Amino acid sequence: MAVKYVMEPFRIKMVEPIRILTREEREAAIKEANYNVFYLRSEDVAIDLLTDSGTNAMSSEQWAGLMRGDESYAGSSSFYKLMEVTDRLFGYNYVQPVHQGRAAEKVLFPLLLKEGKVAISNMFFDTTRAHVELTGGRAIDCVTPEAREVQSKVPFKGNMDLPRFKELLHEYEGRIGVVVMTVTNNSAGGQPVSMANLREVSALCKEHSLPLCLDAARFAENAYFIKQREEEFTDSSIEDIVHEMFQLCDLFTMSAKKDAILNIGGLVGAKDNEELALKLKANVISFEGYSSYGGLAGRDLEAMAIGLLEGIDEQQLHYRIGQVEYLSALLEKEGIAHQSPAGGHGLFLDAKALLPHIPYYEFPGQALAVELYLEAGIRGCDIGSYMMGNDPDTLEQIEAEFEFTRLAIPRRVYTQAHLDLIVEAMKNIRDRAASIKGYRIIWEPPILRHFQAHLEPLE
Ligand code: F0G
Repeated sequence: MAVKYVMEPFRIKMVEPIRILTREEREAAIKEANYNVFYLRSEDVAIDLLTDSGTNAMSSEQWAGLMRGDESYAGSSSFYKLMEVTDRLFGYNYVQPVHQGRAAEKVLFPLLLKEGKVAISNMFFDTTRAHVELTGGRAIDCVTPEAREVQSKVPFKGNMDLPRFKELLHEYEGRIGVVVMTVTNNSAGGQPVSMANLREVSALCKEHSLPLCLDAARFAENAYFIKQREEEFTDSSIEDIVHEMFQLCDLFTMSAKKDAILNIGGLVGAKDNEELALKLKANVISFEGYSSYGGLAGRDLEAMAIGLLEGIDEQQLHYRIGQVEYLSALLEKEGIAHQSPAGGHGLFLDAKALLPHIPYYEFPGQALAVELYLEAGIRGCDIGSYMMGNDPDTLEQIEAEFEFTRLAIPRRVYTQAHLDLIVEAMKNIRDRAASIKGYRIIWEPPILRHFQAHLEPLE
């Protein structure tokens, strides 16, 4: 299937040079980095697809907004501008800025979870899972089994597995502190959740009097997929879809470093639970800063108010998701397996399919990430067993649902030629895949190990 590259709906006014190292220099750099891509210096990376979080290019309007930012400690005008936008988009009584997504998790989850409690999600992302576990609670993933059929073109692979969810509601009755819907479903490949699925989960949560929290990092991309793929919404505006998604939930956490097209920022919100909102505010004041800035500068609040609206612009979403679709079509033509249809924020290469000789405990997703760096200076990351880490109770290595190497695409940063280079690199790697070796961890911290672990290649 030929996919036409969607023209960038912007012009470029400022550029950052890229430094291209030789293969020998890259070999030395990755060894020095303990074969952990998080330790690489960004100047040693040619195309940085480690994350789409905080790596976005802000618009001229956002940069102008930075100059208008009101740095008052309390009641800054930038805060009120931000609240006007969040009121309009989400319709929640209480919304609060925080410095990033995991700060929202830190102030909210201990109010809902403790030892003995569980949280259920269509899939937790790494920091979300960590914050559940830090309360003493346990995180249970419940993604639709369709997500596991990596090459099947099912439209909403991010959905909650409803039959399993209903079983879990009974199995853990009285122990469930919160249900989390992650949109889009990052760990399953940036895959969307349908409105129909969200409506059913919402109704079940109401029936069981459980709070439903939207992990809204990529809410705009999810809304775009709903418009594209769910017939009822063909003529709806992205804004109306976003509003309904939020109204189906009771709480939300948001890393604004993604769809709000920022370099830093987050939000946490409660629709109508005043008591919880007061507790949230107390936590924010203790951990983040006074409630009208929540750990951000006034200028960041101003940029967020503008970015939230740019993020839901349909033309921008068409171009953005078009980039991932373009990459996906080229890779498909080469027979290189990846989660499809293409997700919202990145291309998730199926490392298990490409490197079938590397078992999960030798981390195929990580092996492919290292190989992409060696081949062309491209930095992606493992979203698989290496990231998943060990079971907090048994301390055994968990076998993840997927072994992906994620190539996350920053917003408004790279162009068509960069994407073409990724395909060239992947073709070369495919041709010598059988000779690629797995990895062993030689040191790891107890939680969120993938950021800090030291590895070495297996012989
Ligand atoms: N929820 C989801 C679904 C995320 O993808 C992330 C971050 C967070 C929460 C935490 O937000 O980074 O602002 O504290 N994901 C990034 C990524 C880091 O690369 O996917 P944060």
